[in-house]
Amino acid sequence: MARRSGESPIHRQAIRSLLRWYDRHRRDLPWRGRRGERPDPYRVWLSEIMLQQTTVTAVVPRYRRFLDRWPTIEALAGAPLDDVLHEWQGLGYYARARNLHRCAQVVVHEWRGKFPATEHALLTLPGIGAYTAAAVAAFAFNRRAVPLDANVERVVARLMALEEPLATSRPAMTAFASTLIPSRRAGDAAQALMELGATVCAIRRPQCLICPLADLCRARARKMTDRIPAKAPRAVTPLRHAAVYWLEQGDGRVLLRRRPEDGLFGGMMGLPMTAWAESPWPESAVRRSAPWKATWKAVPGTVTWGVTHFRIALTVYRARLGKEPPDLVGVWADPGDFGGYALPTMMKKAVRHALTAKAS
Ligand code: ADE
Repeated sequence: MARRSGESPIHRQAIRSLLRWYDRHRRDLPWRGRRGERPDPYRVWLSEIMLQQTTVTAVVPRYRRFLDRWPTIEALAGAPLDDVLHEWQGLGYYARARNLHRCAQVVVHEWRGKFPATEHALLTLPGIGAYTAAAVAAFAFNRRAVPLDANVERVVARLMALEEPLATSRPAMTAFASTLIPSRRAGDAAQALMELGATVCAIRRPQCLICPLADLCRARARKMTDRIPAKAPRAVTPLRHAAVYWLEQGDGRVLLRRRPEDGLFGGMMGLPMTAWAESPWPESAVRRSAPWKATWKAVPGTVTWGVTHFRIALTVYRARLGKEPPDLVGVWADPGDFGGYALPTMMKKAVRHALTAKAS
């Protein structure tokens, strides 16, 4: 850490004011310990992984349900991976859920069920990057670590009146934020910066009049809060195309396959699917890549879906088989039982599309 906290009287005053504000106004969130109590590292870690992709409001009920099912890290480590993936539906990338499960196993088997307390050691665990390591070290172990999420970045960028793009300013922001984090209540100060960004130091119309750090804020002094943080130029999200196959037997069962472990929706079940392409798949190529030779017919329309780095357009192809099902890799499942498999939401949309077309 570049600078010690409490370096100047101004910062000492700011820390006092920040912590007092946090004590009065902090939201009562289930992963936070009670006032003055240190929260359980398992709970902190779980909440941070969930919060990486989903809002606080959406996470709270899912977090409670997850904890009811697996109240301890030992319980999670012993759960079948498919159950964890299933429980993760709607919470974003499944790679996170797979890493969550692996991380629980590593902590149980290699750390005797106790999360390590330092950022350095936390970083060696599956699925834990710089942000999560800092968050767990600070919130669960009261370490002077700076979890720089978008909320903390905005607060710090404004305090510093940083006009450069945030991506290049992380070391400077971390150094500055650490001057606001005292040893005694390091976790609370880090949470307080996050809470300030989430509630007071809003993207639009920050409420500077009630901000405990207003006196320290250069962006406010220079009337620049509406320009800081600078907006990164919007990247154009590319569109990718794929075909999915709805292969139905005479008894109505449909072929599902597990996706390869690496890549999007890795390890999840779904309709067999082609690779991604930059343009729609020609029908001849769709037939060549099909799981079985049959009369494949495109279902009219496309299913669209967005992931962080690209948008997806799927065409669903359907075919029916006679009485004797071929011996294919995968499982034959009745569409009424698809709920029992961990299908990614995109796949569920493709299934609905196929079923609607069938009904019409
Ligand atoms: N977003 C990420 N981590 C959070 C936390 N601990 N509390 C509230 N919002 C968060």
